[in-house]
Amino acid sequence: MKNLHNALQLKQLHLLKQLGYAYTDLAPSELEVEAADLPDSLEALQQTVAGCHLCELSKHRHKSVFGEGNVRAQVMFVGEGPGATEDSTGRPFVGRAGEVLTKMIENVLLVPRSDVYIANIVKCRPPSNRVPTESEAFTCRPYLLKQIEMIQPRIIVTLGATAYRYLTNDTSPISRVRGNAIEAKGYTLIPTFHPSYLLRNPSAKKEAFIDMKKVKEMME
Ligand code: URA
Repeated sequence: MKNLHNALQLKQLHLLKQLGYAYTDLAPSELEVEAADLPDSLEALQQTVAGCHLCELSKHRHKSVFGEGNVRAQVMFVGEGPGATEDSTGRPFVGRAGEVLTKMIENVLLVPRSDVYIANIVKCRPPSNRVPTESEAFTCRPYLLKQIEMIQPRIIVTLGATAYRYLTNDTSPISRVRGNAIEAKGYTLIPTFHPSYLLRNPSAKKEAFIDMKKVKEMME
């Protein structure tokens, strides 16, 4: 089944190449990797991601940024996509936004950053830190879904609009939905602001603090 799926995808890609496409922008359902077809270990999945060339973002990356942390984490954080520092180190949230996230984890949840798991919607840096396109997000999302399936966090905190949108399929503004817990299959999702937004809008830190307190209350 998997071979057939791959063969059909290859055929479609060859056809598009003949038509002059370098990278496709197909509707997600036509090109999406199936989470079910992906490796069942995080190490193998990380290798798959490192060799992924399914979208335009792979052309510009220095390193893919798979995610890191406790593979049995109770709490998982999901951001948008790597920035420049993440692209050069291969680690999520290690730039200025990462400093803010680390403080949110260590000062409010009162656990070391290494106790949680941190990942992103897309694993390669979008040029000039632009928001990933729908096609890029949908193409990459199965990797994240597979990580969630393997790590089985009880709580997922989405950071910013992109992470919220692609984990819930809801396009509501983050300012309206933040702090509202959503029961999903196997976990509770809490949306909050992206740490980069907090750097630009320090007055929103109050709300982010309230959201993180909620996460703390939900932790065992
Ligand atoms: N912003 C993100 O969304 N993710 C990172 O890993 C870094 C910055």
